[in-house]
Amino acid sequence: MTANQQIILDNRPQGEAVESNFKLVQGTVPALQDGQVLVRHHYLSLDPYMRGRMNDAKSYAAPQPLGEVMQGGTVGEVVDSRHPKYQAGDKVVGMGGWQEYSVVDGNAPGALRKVDTTHVPLSYYLGAVGMPGVTAWYGLVKIINPKAGETVVVSAATGAVGSAFAALAKARGCRVVGIAGGPDKCRYATEELGFDACIDYREHPDLKSMARALKEACPDGIDGYFENVGGYIFDAVLLRTNAFARVALCGMIAGYDGQPLPLANPALILVNRLKIEGFIVSEHMEVWGEALAELAGLVAAGKLRPRETISEGLASAPSAFLGLLKGKNFGKQLVKLTP
Ligand SMILES: NC(=O)c1ccc[n+]([C@@H]2O[C@H](COP(=O)([O-])OP(=O)(O)OC[C@H]3O[C@@H](n4cnc5c(N)ncnc54)[C@H](OP(=O)(O)O)[C@@H]3O)[C@@H](O)[C@H]2O)c1
Repeated sequence: MTANQQIILDNRPQGEAVESNFKLVQGTVPALQDGQVLVRHHYLSLDPYMRGRMNDAKSYAAPQPLGEVMQGGTVGEVVDSRHPKYQAGDKVVGMGGWQEYSVVDGNAPGALRKVDTTHVPLSYYLGAVGMPGVTAWYGLVKIINPKAGETVVVSAATGAVGSAFAALAKARGCRVVGIAGGPDKCRYATEELGFDACIDYREHPDLKSMARALKEACPDGIDGYFENVGGYIFDAVLLRTNAFARVALCGMIAGYDGQPLPLANPALILVNRLKIEGFIVSEHMEVWGEALAELAGLVAAGKLRPRETISEGLASAPSAFLGLLKGKNFGKQLVKLTP
């Protein structure tokens, strides 16, 4: 029997999530049944949404069950198969969870997808050419729907979603302004990701200062905003929106540990006739094919080559995950599970 290290959710956070919420356990890989595929995970994806699922609260997705392997996206290689569609050596993306191996029902719709690593590195299928990339695509194309020359702004600008957003918005001829934490991230945004400007929110820790910085970076106002953070950053952006601006409400990470995020000036939604639309990318499977094709094209053309932060070994997943929630990651946060 092959050993299979796993990380389970042991108990739920009280306020801020901590390492002791998780537990490393030793499992084994069961014998394959007909139709099943055994996948060895090379990379595990760490994503902010996992924080919400650690709570036992009503949300768009069911909570992560206690005592079970943490759910999450994985890429890896088929090592054994009793399904005609999959052969040993195939590279696949799936939802294998925080463990070294997963046994997947090859007939379950969407459970496993073969990927081509000729022009796109395997790990990118968890980031730029995966769920975060499609998230950026949906918010930009389907909600903000910008015209060339318009100004669009994104918060958490250098992360997995933000970096894909920049490449997609530049491809549509927009002025693209990012908001990120720290001078290194802002330099990376303008020098490597193609942002026209980037505002370091740590230098602008209040509404007034952030609104002033946005006025400077967006002299023609803001036509589209892709919201990942919430709080005073959202308030400052709303102050600078043009009439009929569109806001794609993707995430509010500043409140994921339960902090309240009141809106300072909701009247601006009326005064500026704003469209604000929240969305969950997994509810829009109809766009994934088109979005992934564009994202893979940008990667192959060298126009989207975001950095990744890779922690080594399954045991490092909890601390890497808590670091992601505090901005310690530089680009897509992954855990590498193979030597
Ligand atoms: N709606 C959907 O379907 C969907 C799908 C995927 C992701 N999302 C959301 O998209 C957002 C970005 O996800 P991602 O995977 O690309 O993560 P990410 O940006 O790679 O990592 C999270 C980043 O959030 C920033 N951050 C954390 N706490 C913050 C705070 N209090 N104030 C300001 N910034 C803070 C940090 O960057 P800085 O160092 O720059 O602060 C951190 O690096 C998240 O809100 C996530 O929940 C939504």
